[in-house]
Amino acid sequence: MNFVVLTLFPLMFPAFAGHGVVRRAVEQGLIEIDCVNIRDFAEGKHLITDDRPYGGGNGMVLKPEPLAKAIRAAKEVHPKSRVVFLGPRGRLFDQHTAARLAGNETVVLVCGRYEGIDERIAATLIDEEVSIGDYILSGGEPAAMVVMDAVARLIPGVLGNENSAGQESFTDQLLEHSHFTRPPVFEGQEVPEILLSGDHAKIDQWRTRASLLYTLANRPDLLENREFSKDEITILSKWGRQIADIIRTQGLHGPDALSGDR
Ligand code: ADE
Repeated sequence: MNFVVLTLFPLMFPAFAGHGVVRRAVEQGLIEIDCVNIRDFAEGKHLITDDRPYGGGNGMVLKPEPLAKAIRAAKEVHPKSRVVFLGPRGRLFDQHTAARLAGNETVVLVCGRYEGIDERIAATLIDEEVSIGDYILSGGEPAAMVVMDAVARLIPGVLGNENSAGQESFTDQLLEHSHFTRPPVFEGQEVPEILLSGDHAKIDQWRTRASLLYTLANRPDLLENREFSKDEITILSKWGRQIADIIRTQGLHGPDALSGDR
């Protein structure tokens, strides 16, 4: 799979492409990352790439001409490409989007700077706009790295163990269970005994509970439309009863118990 990154800061990428899983994927020829400087397509003595917004206002806008040329040049080399603009107004990037993008032969990642790009480019040459979260970055480059990392992991052969992508958080709308490694006691904290027991059925059960607990505490939204397994329902029902008990006890002994207004 090919990634073509259109950016004003191509030197931000060699460190990203030169480490870890992404580096191995590049070395094995499973992915290719080609960084193109948008400024190479600018004209005039000063190779200007931005201009003031029509109608006034703060900040600058990426000029349409160099960006259009850069996108068209990428499409000429890679006719079957999906052009993605990284920007805060885009659809929120998630594991499903990563999987969908992994199905493309080439993804062209357009990194904005300044206030954004000229809307006429967005309307004609961009296939989709993607945001990596509800915050404003100074440019799309960190977002492009996030997208490439998440997509590369899903390409067959990139992860040594073909299963490991499937077992991670989000593929099943559950966060991953906690992990422990040696030593068995660290600064007085012990590894849960079940994980040392070698009883794989019990270990799986423990991991399911840990996943559910983390998801419930940190990302309850992930559970909203999820289909639960029988085991998961048993665990959640037990917790439900325990929480109901705690609330009932609070009702009898809690801070309002003596106020008489119940
Ligand atoms: N560029 C600026 N902010 C961004 C965001 N949240 N996601 C993707 N690209 C961006």
